[in-house]
Amino acid sequence: MGTNEAFVADIGLVGLGVMGQNLVLNMARNGYKVAVYNRTKSVTREFLDGPAKGAQEIAGAETIEELVSMLKPPRRVMLMVKAGAAVDAVIAQLKPVLSSGDIIIDGGNSFFEDTVRRARELEAEGLRYLGVGVSGGEEGALKGPSIMPGGSEDAWAYVSSVFTDIAAKAPSGEPCCAYLGPDGAGHYVKMVHNGIEYVDMQLIAETYFVMREMLGMSVAEMQRAFEEWNRGELNSYLIEITADILRKIDADTGKPMVDVILDRAGQKGTGKWTAQEALELGAAAPTMAEAVFARSLSAMKAERCGAAAKLPGPDAGDGDGEAGRLGPDAVTLDDLRKALYAAKVCAYAQGFEVLRLASEEYGWGLDLGAIALLWRGGCIIRAQFLERITEAYARQADLANLILDPYFRDVVTGGQEAWRRVVAAAALRGVPVPALSSSLAYYDSYHRCELPANLIQAQRDYFGAHTYERVDRPGWFHTEWLADGAEARSVPVG
Ligand code: 6PG
Repeated sequence: MGTNEAFVADIGLVGLGVMGQNLVLNMARNGYKVAVYNRTKSVTREFLDGPAKGAQEIAGAETIEELVSMLKPPRRVMLMVKAGAAVDAVIAQLKPVLSSGDIIIDGGNSFFEDTVRRARELEAEGLRYLGVGVSGGEEGALKGPSIMPGGSEDAWAYVSSVFTDIAAKAPSGEPCCAYLGPDGAGHYVKMVHNGIEYVDMQLIAETYFVMREMLGMSVAEMQRAFEEWNRGELNSYLIEITADILRKIDADTGKPMVDVILDRAGQKGTGKWTAQEALELGAAAPTMAEAVFARSLSAMKAERCGAAAKLPGPDAGDGDGEAGRLGPDAVTLDDLRKALYAAKVCAYAQGFEVLRLASEEYGWGLDLGAIALLWRGGCIIRAQFLERITEAYARQADLANLILDPYFRDVVTGGQEAWRRVVAAAALRGVPVPALSSSLAYYDSYHRCELPANLIQAQRDYFGAHTYERVDRPGWFHTEWLADGAEARSVPVG
């Protein structure tokens, strides 16, 4: 800092949190020169004297102006600051010192509508904007994250090499980074990634709970099960880290770490946004919402403990009730594995449905198969089976639902008996499995030609004259439900 006149950087980065620092180190390792700035100067100093020590490709700036002066044109500035007001604040500082054609890149978990707004505002002022989703946590940022860029396509041409080089590579060798679409497309895809992440985590947590509460497995046995599952079709980062977590012993108590962690889940909002967006678009994505509700219920720890003393569940298996008749073999470990995979497939089907509808609604032209490929490495939901999703869309680009693809259809139909046994047994035992059961209800609703919505339409017409359609002729009808007699007439409307 202070002696940077000769340093010409390829890119600047604002915000030296752990993610920001690791992205800088990753860029430098790939040969890019990076100028860095953090509002609290001591953080920059500690970074330069610590993790970045000796790196010729990294230089610090004391002010935003200095940072910008170190960049070659068109200037590229990446923001790694907290989503929300902080992003607008940094943009406001950058605007007066940037020139027409310069590029701002937001690499945080920004809400896509904010990204759309910022892109419009900045483009009206001659600047170019990219909203880039980055997934993979601290380790991913350092070694190779999955990168989901959206925004100005001509700006992308100036930064694509940096991001493609620092991105994770799929097992096939392809980079987990590709331009997705205009304005908010990148942040939208990252948001849905996180919505799926919530469901994936909730499904695994429920599976662990069934192992513990119904199969009576020890933590060591569970650990071996997840490790084993990670060698098969369930192979994924989240299953792998679950096995890892279950191996750890708390140094203070000698108990498994998982047993000393309070069962109260936090959330920063991206899962909630996905569920809200599904509602907004009219996408059927119940399991995505259920995973968010499950975290909210978990957070009500004190209230739950109070209710536990007042509200009984089914008997614990030693009485005469249904739960008592459930033998220890009612559900097997293999049932559980099949249930987890089938439920996961239905949850991903919901996530891709949100993406499909969003692409239509916002005119983004998202390539769903390419998105699955982007998630193949680096990100939190990386999993072997994502390749199957890419293959499914390659077989049929306009696939209405993933579970209609032959591979996924076989997973779901082949696993459904086991899946039903798990959900039914859990209900009888009073063990909550909201995501496993919501996914099953989604499947059962999706594959039934007839649902009870006829009665809902009749009720709506009864109390609000909202009209209904008939099964035997086209058009919209209303009935005078309060008229005397059992006979009712359908009167055409409109
Ligand atoms: C990722 C993660 C990352 C973040 C989650 C945590 O893809 O690297 O999704 O973005 O860790 O958003 O979210 P919650 O705090 O809401 O669980």
